[in-house]
Amino acid sequence: MNKKLIITFLLGLLLLFVAACGSSDDGDTEEADNANDETEEAADDTESTDGTDESGDKEVYTVATDNAYVPFEYLDEESGELVGFDIDLITALAEEAGIEIEIETLEFSGIVAGLGSGKFDIGIAGMTITEERKESIDFTQPYYEAGLILAVNEENVDEIKSIDDVDGKVVATRVGSTSEEYLKENTDAKPEAFPEIVEAYQNVLAGRADAVLYDLPNVQYYSEKEAGGKLITVGEKLTGEDYGIGFPKGSEIRDKIDEALTTLKENGTYDDIYEKWFGDRPEGT
Ligand code: ARG
Repeated sequence: MNKKLIITFLLGLLLLFVAACGSSDDGDTEEADNANDETEEAADDTESTDGTDESGDKEVYTVATDNAYVPFEYLDEESGELVGFDIDLITALAEEAGIEIEIETLEFSGIVAGLGSGKFDIGIAGMTITEERKESIDFTQPYYEAGLILAVNEENVDEIKSIDDVDGKVVATRVGSTSEEYLKENTDAKPEAFPEIVEAYQNVLAGRADAVLYDLPNVQYYSEKEAGGKLITVGEKLTGEDYGIGFPKGSEIRDKIDEALTTLKENGTYDDIYEKWFGDRPEGT
C-alpha cells in the first residue's frame, strides 16, 4: 500500500514536472506564434492582392504633378531631376504622415480629371482651390497663397499698365488655368491659352502676344531667372489664389496629409522649404 502511494505520489510529481517544463518549453507560445503567423499570412495576402496593408492603407500612393512650373515643380537643367517647392513639400508631408509616394508627371490640365477619376491618389501642382474643382476633388487646407499678375514685354509698359488696359489685346496664358478663366470672365481681352506656360512667355517676349496673365510666383521667377528682365509685371496682384493639395473625393488620406501639413507649418519644416525656394517669408504670412 505504502509503495503504491509513493509511486502515485512520484508519478504525480513527474506529471507536474512535465507540465511545468511544457509551459516553459514554449508549447503555448508556439501556438500563439502560429496564430500570429496566420494573421501575418492573411495580411500578406491582402497586400499582394490589392496593395493594402492590414490597416487598409495603401503601400505606395501615386502623386500627380506637372514638370514645367517654376519654382514649384520643374526639371532641373543639370540633373534632369524633378525639383521644386511642391516636390520638397510633398516628400516631407509623406514622411510626416508615414506613407510612401511615387511621383508621376503629366500635363497640368489633366491633373484634376485624373484625381477625380481616382487614377491618382494625390495631386500637387500649384493648384488653386476653386469652387468648381471642389465639385470633383477634395483639397487640403491652403499651403501657399499666390495670386495672378499681368506681365508685358518691356516695350509695352506704357501701353498696358494694368488689367484695365487689356481689352482687345491678345493675352497669353496656360490652358485649363485659373488665369484663362479669369480672362474670359473678367475682361474683353483675347485669351490665347498654351499647353505650356513657357510658350506664353515666349510669345510675349517675341511680340506675338501683348501680355501674359499667370500666377505671380511663376511669372516673377521666370522673369528674373529666364527672361533677363525683359518681361515686366504690371499692375496689382489680382485675386486670391490659395494652392491646395488635391485628392479623389472621399480619400482616406486627405486628413492624414492635412494634419501633417499643420504639423510642418508648426514645427518650422514648412518655413525651411519656403525659404529654400522663395527666400524670406513676407511679414504676416
Ligand atoms: N494656379 C493655377 C491653377 O490652379 C495655375 C497652376 C499651374 N500649375 C502647374 N503646375 N502648371 O489653375
